[in-house]
Amino acid sequence: MKNLLKNNGICVDGLKRSLCVAPMMDWTDRHCRYFHRLLAPQALLFTEMVTAEAILHAGADRFCQHDAHEHPLVLQLGGAEPDRLADAVRAVEPFGFDEINLNVGCPSSRVQSGRFGACLMAEPELVSELVRVMRDQTDRPVTVKCRIGIDNMDPETGLDRFVDSVADAGVQVIYLHARKAWLNGLSPKENREIPPLDYGRAERLARRRPDLDIILNGGLTDRDMLIAVLQQSGQIFAGVMLGRAAYKTPYQLGLFHQLLSQKAALPDLLNIAQQMTDYAEQQMRAGVPLHAITRHMLGLCAGLKGARTFRRELGEQARMPGTDWTLIETALKACLRMNKNPDEKKVA
Ligand SMILES: Cc1cc2nc3c(=O)[nH]c(=O)nc-3n(C[C@H](O)[C@H](O)[C@H](O)COP(=O)(O)O)c2cc1C
Repeated sequence: MKNLLKNNGICVDGLKRSLCVAPMMDWTDRHCRYFHRLLAPQALLFTEMVTAEAILHAGADRFCQHDAHEHPLVLQLGGAEPDRLADAVRAVEPFGFDEINLNVGCPSSRVQSGRFGACLMAEPELVSELVRVMRDQTDRPVTVKCRIGIDNMDPETGLDRFVDSVADAGVQVIYLHARKAWLNGLSPKENREIPPLDYGRAERLARRRPDLDIILNGGLTDRDMLIAVLQQSGQIFAGVMLGRAAYKTPYQLGLFHQLLSQKAALPDLLNIAQQMTDYAEQQMRAGVPLHAITRHMLGLCAGLKGARTFRRELGEQARMPGTDWTLIETALKACLRMNKNPDEKKVA
């Protein structure tokens, strides 16, 4: 298939961002990222958001440990005070993240009370100061993840003004969740579902600022839909970011990867289960409970016969005392035995 992305997904700073897995609090921890890496060997992975304050109070070590396999890996920070963010970037520098991203898209009230996240879209000058001081502390790319607007902000002029301002401060890559955040009255979950998606707005931004790389995020659920969206926009986006679909239907992540990296091979479920079994053994020996790993894998067999049993085993059986890592491979094999040709069913 003809390439669907601007410059094959290679961005102005040289980093490939064709496929990114979104930062998701409580979900994209290090075990989840290890699993996602197996499904999408070249994707750019994100940590959960960590606030600058958490890093400065509890120590970077607590939030920044990761496995070498997780690279390329982005640390997402939250914060609104230039000095604190600068200190946090300095503190995480030794951990070798490939990029530092600033969260300007999270609508939760906890985040708003700290005056950061999506509400910062109303303060483009402050955000440009934040990224300027962050860039002073690191040679890695500093990027921004934002929405197309908040509340009554005009999504045309408001977004242009915001993006121009952060671009003046040296940001070259924007991850754009293509819907507004409504800061009053909606829960974070509703804010990911109710404000309408507007891929056209993302496309207009990418056309107006071809010097920047825009990564499209929001509501991308399956491969056919992705192809349609990218064909319609005509190689204007440098990449796509997948959130809930990657987590809830991990096999889709593998399919996205196969499409965007133009690799012929489909994800091999058995091989992934075997590698996760080895990983679980190593982690359990270091004291990590099995379910802390398997909880991220519940959707792996979605669409196959036996998916519910697989889900239950990895969700419930994994919590039972005495259950060991072999559960992962055993449960997957049992599911595969119920399906003649798992790959065909998955693609259908
Ligand atoms: C459980 C959960 C936690 C999230 N946490 C974060 C976060 O820490 N930082 C952030 O920028 N976005 C966060 N998001 C938003 C996602 O990164 C993404 O922008 C959003 O889910 C839209 O993409 P999707 O439709 O592909 O899921 C979170 C989303 C979910 C579902």
